[in-house]
Amino acid sequence: MIGIYDSLQRLDLRENSNLLEVCIGPGVGLEEALRYQGVKVIGVDVSKDMVELSSSKIAQHIQDGRAKVVLGDVHNLSFIESNSIDRIFHMNCCYFWEDVEQALKELLRVLKPGGKMLSAMKYRAIKKGNHDPAIFKNTDPESYLKSLEKVGFVNIESSPVQLQSGCTGINAKLGCPVSSRMHYTAVFSSKTS
Ligand SMILES: C[S@@+](CC[C@H](N)C(=O)[O-])C[C@H]1O[C@@H](n2cnc3c(N)ncnc32)[C@H](O)[C@@H]1O
Repeated sequence: MIGIYDSLQRLDLRENSNLLEVCIGPGVGLEEALRYQGVKVIGVDVSKDMVELSSSKIAQHIQDGRAKVVLGDVHNLSFIESNSIDRIFHMNCCYFWEDVEQALKELLRVLKPGGKMLSAMKYRAIKKGNHDPAIFKNTDPESYLKSLEKVGFVNIESSPVQLQSGCTGINAKLGCPVSSRMHYTAVFSSKTS
């Protein structure tokens, strides 16, 4: 099974294209995206600590003008122009959104016609973990897919992936266990051209 970061390849990240990641957390997704030659990244997170942490990890790229990290909320991306983003990625985040449709409307607005989005969630671990519904508000995969369609995303495809492909280091020594934390759902969608 392929890993979630391998799935970024399916976004067809090209030189001089730009990728918006919302909910960057500590910046692992941004670091992965920056491995694609010539791709520019914009990271957005509502937490000042996460913005600072991820900015420090990719400081050289920020200095070189290839990366930008902004404190902001996915429900209101007014600091990003409409139809300006080639690719969008978000992972482990839509559970927390107050209003999934509003957030998706904003993501669709900033996406260029023909642009693609990869959404990744670990629904299995969330279900198993008995998480507080006051914090984890959106944990139903079907409902996320319906919201995508409702706001106007097209070519919606959902498939199971793992956190990482391959098994190395300590995981290999432990016999490559696959915990529910590693089971992700990757949802690809796009904006009509
Ligand atoms: C569980 S972490 C996931 C981080 C990273 N995407 C990952 O998978 O490692 C969720 C992140 O989403 C951010 N977040 C939550 N709600 C948000 C919102 N409405 N807009 C932007 N970021 C948000 C949090 O601050 C946190 O950094």
